[in-house]
Amino acid sequence: MFEQLVGKLPVGIGIVDEDFNVVYLNDFFLDRLPHNMRSCYKETPVVELFQGQGKFLKRRLKSVFVLQHPSFSYWEQRPHIFPFKSSRPITGEETQMYQNMEILPIKDKTTGQRLACIFLQDVTAQASYFRAQQKLSEALKKEHEAQRKLIRKLDTAQSQLIQAEKMASTGQLAAGIAHEINNPIGFVNANLNTLEQYASHLLAICDGVKTQLEHFTDDLKEQISVLFESNHYDLLKDDITELITESTDGLTRVKDIVENLKNFSLETTEGTQVVDICAVCHQLITLISAQYSSPQYKLQCEHEKVEVMGNPGPLKQALMNVMINAAQAIEEKGFIKLTVIDAAQSVTIKILDSGCGIPVKNLKRVFEPFFTTKPEGQGQGLGLSVAYTAIEQHQGKISISSKEAKGTVVEITIPKQSTAAASCCEESEVENSQAT
Ligand SMILES: Nc1ncnc2c1ncn2[C@@H]1O[C@H](COP(=O)(O)OP(=O)(O)O)[C@@H](O)[C@H]1O
Ligand SMILES: [Mg+2]
Repeated sequence: MFEQLVGKLPVGIGIVDEDFNVVYLNDFFLDRLPHNMRSCYKETPVVELFQGQGKFLKRRLKSVFVLQHPSFSYWEQRPHIFPFKSSRPITGEETQMYQNMEILPIKDKTTGQRLACIFLQDVTAQASYFRAQQKLSEALKKEHEAQRKLIRKLDTAQSQLIQAEKMASTGQLAAGIAHEINNPIGFVNANLNTLEQYASHLLAICDGVKTQLEHFTDDLKEQISVLFESNHYDLLKDDITELITESTDGLTRVKDIVENLKNFSLETTEGTQVVDICAVCHQLITLISAQYSSPQYKLQCEHEKVEVMGNPGPLKQALMNVMINAAQAIEEKGFIKLTVIDAAQSVTIKILDSGCGIPVKNLKRVFEPFFTTKPEGQGQGLGLSVAYTAIEQHQGKISISSKEAKGTVVEITIPKQSTAAASCCEESEVENSQAT
């Protein structure tokens, strides 16, 4: 009965003698041996019976016989010791059996013969479950890493957006300040004009007195001459006109800048109207040259006026962003040339600069939002993407070509009659640098 029980156990049990010949195999082993071997396995060397792993088995058996100590081999280190099949619990497919094997030293009580007992356990279920879990955890790890990358990207995008938001509010602030400055400029300008007239009247009076000096008594003549000299009249007369002219010029410049600041605030509510591109270019040059004074600015307009139907805010914004890039690309000496070409159906504006140029690898990316090569605080990487959106809104085209260390040309073409949307904030996808 006991032998029957051992025979039927769902684990493999085999006994091997000190010459490595098989003494006993239970059904678990026998069922998995080729038919012709089942009846004649006894006295067969274990190495012959299980050829693939023969050497390994022999080494293990030897160590058990010598050390009289059990030996264990785990499926993860040595998965398939015996060439048996098993069906996978998850897929049901037939595969190699994953096995745990233990070899124990035993002794025949009657003969005293030393033997080794091999226990073999089919652990395919655990192994394939473990493998599936491992795959899952690897996939999870990958996903986790991807998520971390995404979070990092989002963090950067968020801080850039905050920066952009700050810029936008700075723009609004500038427009507000410009509006406020307008008032005092108005009265300072008016007062300066009056002052100029008053000064000329005073000078005329003084000059009149000077020419009439000979008609005064000697005493009075002397007193008046001293008065003129002690107050440095000649110097005052020369300087006063110059001072007033200089102040008027300065004030005109301040007026121009304020006017342009107002023009370039985000005017989104204006809707479509006639925009004179030449006037816009003039305004732009005044505005930009006040901030970036090193380049020389040239404007070439075919006609006095070149008009398109468009949304002035976004159009000016687009041209300004391109102009700022051109100005920023010029370190010391250089020039920026604007050319306005008036075609029958459209207007083309070329903005050429002799600046640092754009490397080929960056050229494809310049229209991408947040792409910038400028140090933090200087560039948001939004200039060209905003320009692209604005020009696209006008069914126009914007393209850029550049040569490193030579310069850059941005070409913008706008149809004269477009159905430009009233809003400048619609999103559009920016795909490549050669928007043709
Ligand atoms: N005229 C130009 N000359 C050289 N590089 C330019 C020029 N215009 C654009 N670029 C490059 O394109 C990038 C993106 O421009 P933009 O979208 O305006 O963002 P930002 O100016 O804030 O960096 C710039 O950082 C710069 O590297
Ligand atoms: Mg820019």
